[in-house]
Amino acid sequence: MLTTKRAKRVAGEIKVPGDKSISHRAVMFSSMAKGTARIYGFLPGADCLSTISCFQKMGVSIEQNGDQVIVESAGLDGLNEPHEILDVGNSGTTIRLMSGILAGRSFHSTLIGDESIARRPMKRVVEPLKKMGARIDGRADGNFTPLAIRGGQLSGMEYHSPVASAQVKSAIILAGLQAEGLTTVYEPHLSRDHTERMLSSFGVELNSFDGGVSIQGGQVMRQQEEIHVPGDISSAAFVLAAAAIVPGSQLTVRGVGVNPTRTGIIDVLLEMGADLKVENERIQNGEPVADLTISYAHLKGMEIGGAIIPRLIDEIPIIAVMASQARGTTIIRDAEELKVKETNRIDVMVQELRKMGAQVEPTEDGMIIQGGANLTGARCHSHGDHRIGMSMAIAGLVAEGETFIEEAEAINVSFPGFEQILKEIVVDS
Ligand code: S3P
Repeated sequence: MLTTKRAKRVAGEIKVPGDKSISHRAVMFSSMAKGTARIYGFLPGADCLSTISCFQKMGVSIEQNGDQVIVESAGLDGLNEPHEILDVGNSGTTIRLMSGILAGRSFHSTLIGDESIARRPMKRVVEPLKKMGARIDGRADGNFTPLAIRGGQLSGMEYHSPVASAQVKSAIILAGLQAEGLTTVYEPHLSRDHTERMLSSFGVELNSFDGGVSIQGGQVMRQQEEIHVPGDISSAAFVLAAAAIVPGSQLTVRGVGVNPTRTGIIDVLLEMGADLKVENERIQNGEPVADLTISYAHLKGMEIGGAIIPRLIDEIPIIAVMASQARGTTIIRDAEELKVKETNRIDVMVQELRKMGAQVEPTEDGMIIQGGANLTGARCHSHGDHRIGMSMAIAGLVAEGETFIEEAEAINVSFPGFEQILKEIVVDS
């Protein structure tokens, strides 16, 4: 159980743990390339540890010590048929990207995860991978776990993804890398491009164009000796939001990944009127990184929809909290993908924010939040979803009385040490 209460202000200079999306890819891609890689700044959260354990079960030697990981791999052809079931825990990125890798391996594997994973749609990757020649089965005609995969020789294809999802795009790219011929994925809006960037650093040629990306099969990956993972902007979002809504705050978060496909939260903060500075921008392993400094300023509501949605999809729960403290109304639309995240984040955020007295209405594809709410501490629940747990903990910093977050251990999925960081930056007396 995590407890938060009204903060006097939020102040300090911190770093947040490594980027979840990039940490997964660092382990996956270095496990697919022959040789030894050292990963620094790895996120030792539950999701990325699930990715490590899946590759260990296929014979890759991986040593993890805090945020450092050493991967020694015999390369893609050295991956062994796993004797055990591959358990992805709570991680959608693990199961969907792994499916793309396993689709091209000529052995059998079974993927399972927790209760949340069992409810999340897998057809979005299963269908295109089957079209490429993989044999995949699962509950409800392959839509739900457990997934049984028998991979093999794949053929390249053109695929129009109905959703802007980096997990879908990446699964197809990773299958395409092992396929015969050219694979092209089109997506309705550009989703995060960490796969494209990191594969390029592994010597793989991709052609990214407006609306999609192509990859020629059969390219050999060149192992990276060192991979440095930047801080996760999706984790930074929670502490930045805290400083944005608690009067008198000033906070610096150093070394945060600011890949333009992830910085929708910066655009929203600025448009809401936050006093935010992006400084010291540099490139690290093909990914832009910067220091972010935010000072309290009164926020105003706004409309959020369209192409920005995939650029801030994971930040919508905390944006809803900020919107409850802004002047005016905030409307979030085109975000139906929220329904198939770790929880249905539209329903769950509405339910939890209402417990604290916020005025928020669910819609078919988002929510409408009235600003200016005087929140009251409540007994909230993470519903097993890390981002819901953290959002409600931050809401507690502007609420009257105490806010309790039940099942707060879910936060370890992406932000181990969250409670400790809050202790460091929250001034409450
Ligand atoms: C991720 C992609 C996003 C995001 C998730 C991580 C990734 O999911 O919500 O937290 O690492 O590729 P979708 O691709 O389903 O939008």
